[in-house]
Amino acid sequence: MNLVGTRMQRNQVVRTMLDHRSVRKYLRKAPSDEVVGTVVRAGQQAPFASQMYSILLSRKAARNPFRAPLLFTICVDSHKFETIMARRGWKMVTNDLTLLFFGIEDASLMAENMVVAGRSLGLGSCFLGFAMYQADKIAKQYELPKRVFPLVQLAMGYPAEDPPPRPRYPMEFTLFEDRYPELSDDMITRAMDQMDEGYLAQDYYRKNKAKIRLERGRKEAYGYGSYSWTEHICRKWGQWHPRSTELVKQLELRGFKIS
Ligand SMILES: Cc1cc2nc3c(=O)[nH]c(=O)nc-3n(C[C@H](O)[C@H](O)[C@H](O)COP(=O)(O)O)c2cc1C
Repeated sequence: MNLVGTRMQRNQVVRTMLDHRSVRKYLRKAPSDEVVGTVVRAGQQAPFASQMYSILLSRKAARNPFRAPLLFTICVDSHKFETIMARRGWKMVTNDLTLLFFGIEDASLMAENMVVAGRSLGLGSCFLGFAMYQADKIAKQYELPKRVFPLVQLAMGYPAEDPPPRPRYPMEFTLFEDRYPELSDDMITRAMDQMDEGYLAQDYYRKNKAKIRLERGRKEAYGYGSYSWTEHICRKWGQWHPRSTELVKQLELRGFKIS
């Protein structure tokens, strides 16, 4: 059966998920303890390999990115589990790369559950991806023990903007049944067009002032009228962090060894 182009079933959960859009402007109104607790508890019910995460919370809106009333820092946490192992007379022997993979999976599932629960309660949110490069600084701020690694941050609060949902790749470029296909030129063009036209229609990069600067003397050829997602994402992964040194250093400062 070809799932591409099939009609979708809709219920409240699916609608909430399809309604997702990152929010970068927030009302000052702080969510109640009950709302915050509900979001975190719903996050916790995500499937897990070993609950290898902890969530830090800052309600200091004035200092949070986007002045969001809530800033969650999602951490991979092996420390907590190692305390349980010690109680039972065990030592962690699993290598840190494996632990990190499982921890990132656990933490990501929890975080996305929080996003969906938040949305269902009227909250908007936006991930911030650079915590991993500021792990040592964040660790000092929150007095983290070793073996706790800040992975990603999640700003959350009541939205003060209501942008449209952002585009995604076509299903034909996402779901491959039984075998991975040869990607034809047409498929690639359709995927790029769907993304680029979708973001351009929203004037997304101009509104978010999010153009990535070209490095190493490359000449700028794109204004906000033509700069869109595929160019943006190429500039990210075509320029940033060619070496793993900095990330490995941050991990080592937090007590994780990747060799
Ligand atoms: C791991 C991760 C890191 C992200 N980092 C940032 C960030 O640093 N700044 C930002 O404005 N948005 C960030 N985002 C949000 C993405 O830009 C956004 O999810 C993407 O453009 C799709 O848009 P949508 O969430 O509105 O559908 C991040 C999202 C993820 C999942």
